[in-house]
Amino acid sequence: MKKIELSGFEHLSSGKVREIYAPKEPDELGSVVLIVATDRISAFDHILSPTIPDKGKILTDISRYWFSKLNVPNHFITTQGVPEQVVGRAMFCKRLEMIPVECVARGYLTGSAYQEYACTGKFQEFVLPKGLKDGDKLDEVLFTPAIKAQVGEHDENVPFDRISQLIGSELAERLKQLTLNIYETARQIAESVGITLVDTKFEFGIDPETEEVVLGDEVLTPDSSRYWDKNGSSYDKQFVRNYLLKDSGWNPKSNTPPPDIPPEVAQKTAKLYAKIRDLLLSNPTSNSGI
Ligand SMILES: Nc1ncnc2c1ncn2[C@@H]1O[C@H](COP(=O)(O)OP(=O)(O)O)[C@@H](O)[C@H]1O
Ligand SMILES: [Mg+2]
Repeated sequence: MKKIELSGFEHLSSGKVREIYAPKEPDELGSVVLIVATDRISAFDHILSPTIPDKGKILTDISRYWFSKLNVPNHFITTQGVPEQVVGRAMFCKRLEMIPVECVARGYLTGSAYQEYACTGKFQEFVLPKGLKDGDKLDEVLFTPAIKAQVGEHDENVPFDRISQLIGSELAERLKQLTLNIYETARQIAESVGITLVDTKFEFGIDPETEEVVLGDEVLTPDSSRYWDKNGSSYDKQFVRNYLLKDSGWNPKSNTPPPDIPPEVAQKTAKLYAKIRDLLLSNPTSNSGI
């Protein structure tokens, strides 16, 4: 999907997956952004080709679902009145001053955290028990933040102290508590439909009008989270990562862009994303009380 011209909107920025617009005329809603989720997919901080059919709509459905379930201040306003070209993949949100921290919660040891643990026995500042295997549940959920990189750079995992230095210890502590609380609530909700929420990443911002810390960006999507079923199958981006790492011959540490993903990998990924949306959205549990 190419960047779309939306009449009445100014394009503010492009992320790897989302395009951000602002209404040209100030609105009675206050300071708002229109967040449009495209069908692009990224892995290892590269945008891949081709796109994944309907992925942006699926991500939007899943984020909206979680915003309605989580009882924390969030940026979602409405999907009413979004331009016709982007219906289903766009939402009006409160415009926030984003805090440049990727707030990661990990309940299980896998991915890059497992790789580091396998070499050193630690992940970041956390010394972990000996003998853990890939995918093991952790006794304590870890808050393992990263500093959000500029466009084209890689996010940098850092110890909690660095985040405190960057944004102040009070705000750092608040992000940690919010991240761990939301993760725990979401894990229970996912569990109720037989899905394990392995880890996830949140981004928060400050509402300039109230100075409140607000949950922004996408929430608990298969782009920002790992979801497993009881057999350890992934309903997330892992399928694409596995293709790139194991089958394509590409080395993520090389400075070369990844190869195109084959059509069958793109189609399977679309199916996995649709499946996790269907599982979550069929969930009858009531709103949480965090
Ligand atoms: N409410 C908001 N106000 C302003 N910016 C936001 C808001 N919510 C999310 N963002 C920003 O919009 C961008 C979302 O696009 P995305 O494709 O996810 O980017 P990235 O490549 O950084 O992951 C991110 O830079 C995110 O920080
Ligand atoms: Mg993002």
